[in-house]
Amino acid sequence: MSQEQISLFGAAEVSSELSPDEFELIPTSAKIRIPPGTYDSLDQLTAHCKGCQRCGLAEGRTNVVVSRGSRTAPIMIIGEGPGQQEDEQGLPFVGKSGQLLEKILASVRLDSEKDVYICNVVKCRPPGNRNPAADEVAACKPYLLEQIRLVDPKIILLTGSTAMKGLLDVKEGITKVRGQWMEWEGRYCMAIFHPAYLLRNPSREAGKPKWLMWQDIQAVRKKLDELTDS
Ligand code: URA
Repeated sequence: MSQEQISLFGAAEVSSELSPDEFELIPTSAKIRIPPGTYDSLDQLTAHCKGCQRCGLAEGRTNVVVSRGSRTAPIMIIGEGPGQQEDEQGLPFVGKSGQLLEKILASVRLDSEKDVYICNVVKCRPPGNRNPAADEVAACKPYLLEQIRLVDPKIILLTGSTAMKGLLDVKEGITKVRGQWMEWEGRYCMAIFHPAYLLRNPSREAGKPKWLMWQDIQAVRKKLDELTDS
């Protein structure tokens, strides 16, 4: 990874273990460590997630939403948390945001079943679609880290601010950081706008969120081609 591709948002300093501060946030009832290497397979991780009671979100869920897509995909897309439809179907990004995400991927010939693995920072639906709280993100983070380790993607896309801050130690807002390559644990990471934000801001005018997403997804396609051609 060349120097100009590593931007200076502190992301490179983040390790794949929870920091002491993040560990402190985990509810006392769930302060059981899940260190890197806990799971031998994504099936094992999924089975464990299905019985998870590490935070209060377990109470209101219909389904634990672990992932969809290819388990060997070069690109991992991380969202915030399941919404109503995702909770009902047990799959991430299957509602309106998911439909837009499919179109965005298809616009650069990315197949959501083959080329990407899709998951969220929290695996259970926050009530009323509120943002997941810091303790819920911390309680769920070891699962996310294990998903990253097991899928081993070359590229990680973080959709929206919650996903970005859930993985990377970035102080700046998404509007400033989106579209920039950051390095995390030897992987290329990019924060992109959340599809729900694009649904609320539908203009395609140059410089508007949808137009910016178009730039970002083309940069992702280019990076994937570079990484797979070499
Ligand atoms: N929004 C997300 O962030 N994730 C989903 O799975 C669905 C909507």
